[in-house]
Amino acid sequence: MNILVLGSGGREHTFAYKLAQSDRCAQLFVAPGNAGTSAVATNLDISVNDFPAIKKAVMEHKISMVVVGPEDPLVNGIYDFFKEDVSLKEVLIVGPSQRGALLEGSKERAKEFMYQHKIPTAAYQSFTPETLDAGKKFLETLQPPYVLKADGLAAGKGVLILKDLKDAKNELENMLAHAKFGAASNKVVIEEFLDGIELSVFVLTDGKNYKLLPTAKDYKRIGEGDAGLNTGGMGAVSPAPFADETFMRKIEERIVKPTVNGLKEEGIDYKGFVFIGLIKVKDEPYVIEYNVRMGDPETEVVLPRIKSDLVTLFEATATQQLDNVSLALDPRSAATVMLVSGGYPEAYEKGKEIFGLNEVGGSLVFHAGTILKNDKVVTNGGRVIAVTSMDDDFRRAIKKSYQEIAKLSFDKMYYRTDIGFDL
Ligand code: AMP
Ligand code: GLY
Repeated sequence: MNILVLGSGGREHTFAYKLAQSDRCAQLFVAPGNAGTSAVATNLDISVNDFPAIKKAVMEHKISMVVVGPEDPLVNGIYDFFKEDVSLKEVLIVGPSQRGALLEGSKERAKEFMYQHKIPTAAYQSFTPETLDAGKKFLETLQPPYVLKADGLAAGKGVLILKDLKDAKNELENMLAHAKFGAASNKVVIEEFLDGIELSVFVLTDGKNYKLLPTAKDYKRIGEGDAGLNTGGMGAVSPAPFADETFMRKIEERIVKPTVNGLKEEGIDYKGFVFIGLIKVKDEPYVIEYNVRMGDPETEVVLPRIKSDLVTLFEATATQQLDNVSLALDPRSAATVMLVSGGYPEAYEKGKEIFGLNEVGGSLVFHAGTILKNDKVVTNGGRVIAVTSMDDDFRRAIKKSYQEIAKLSFDKMYYRTDIGFDL
C-alpha cells in the first residue's frame, strides 16, 4: 500500500525508515519531511495542518494509510476530517479522533479522565480568569514546589514548577490574566508536586485492544545534569532500566488497562498511540500527562526495538485487529543522543552545513531539523540529528552513539555528553 507520514522531525524519519523496510509498503510519502526522509521516501511540500492539501495528495498518490506524527493535526481533528469525507473515509489513519486527542489538547480534560477512571495521578484543581483569587488561595493550601499547567497546547512550555509561593501566585496571574501562553492559559491546572524518577510508557491501541510498546526515559533539559531550560528532548534510552517486571505490571493494571477501557467506555474513537508520561514515587506509578502521539526523541529508541512489520501493526491498529497480530521486540537497549543548534531552545541559526553524515557506521542517524540545499544537508531547526545505537548493555549503546557523534559536525553544534547519567 501507499503510505503518507505527516511531520518533519526525528520521529517521522524513524517512522519512514521503519515503514520503508516493509514489503507491504509500496510508495512512501512524508509531508513535509526533512533531508533524512527524502532518502527513504518522497517528501511532499505540505503543512501538517493543511487538510485540503493533504486530501489532494492522498487522492493523487492513491494513499491508503496516513500516519500522523505530531499532536497539532490530531487536536485539530484530522482523523474526523478523513472519516467525514466520502472520498477519504476508507483511508486508514493512525492517530486518534479529535475527542481522543483532547487527552493531550486539554490538561483539565486529561485530569478529569484520570479521576473518572481511577487512574493514579497528582491531586489538582483548575482555575479560570474569573477564579484567579480562588487559585491563589488554593496555592496557599499546598506544599512547595508548586506545579502550574496551562490547559491547552503550549509547545511543551506550558508547565511551570515554582519553589516560592509568591512566584507561583504571580505566574498564575500571568497565565490567567495576562495570557502568558496565549489562549492555552485561559485555564490553568494547579497540581500537587510528585517527587520521583520519570519514565514514558507507549501504548498502541485500536480502541479495543492494545500492545504495550517499549518504555523509554528521555532527557528534556538543555544542560548537563538536567539543568537549564526545557527542550523537546536531548536524548533517550529504552527500556527505562529501573522499570522492572513488578513495576510494569502495576503500570499495566492500574494505568494502561483503565486508560484503554476508559476510552472504550466513553465511546471515543482512538486508533493510535497513547504516550503516558509517568513518575515513579517510591515504588508506585502516577500519570503526569497523556500525549496522543509518539514522543520525540523517544521514537528514535522505541521503534528500532520493534522487530514486527510496522505496516502490519499499523493496519491492525486502524482496523481494530490488534488482537490478531503479535509484537516482537529486540531485547537489546537503544540509546539516542540529539545534536542541536547552538542557542536552542532559545534563538538559534539555521542553514549550517552538516559534515560527516556518510562516515557514521553501526549507529542509526535520524534527521530532525535538516533540509537539502543544493544537494547539501543543512540545519533547519533547533533539534538537528539524533544518533541511535543498540547494545545488550544500555551504557555501551550510549557510548557507541557518542563515538559516532565525534564524526559529525556543524557550526555551533551542541549536545549533552551525559545522557543516561542518572541510570
Ligand atoms: P509536561 O509538559 O506535562 O510533560 O510537564 C513537563 C514536566 O514537568 C514533566 O516532565 C515533569 O518533569 C514536570 N511535572 C509535571 N507535572 C508534575 C508534577 N505533578 N509533579 C512533579 N513534576 C511534574
Ligand atoms: N520528548 C517529549 C515529547 O515528545 O513530548
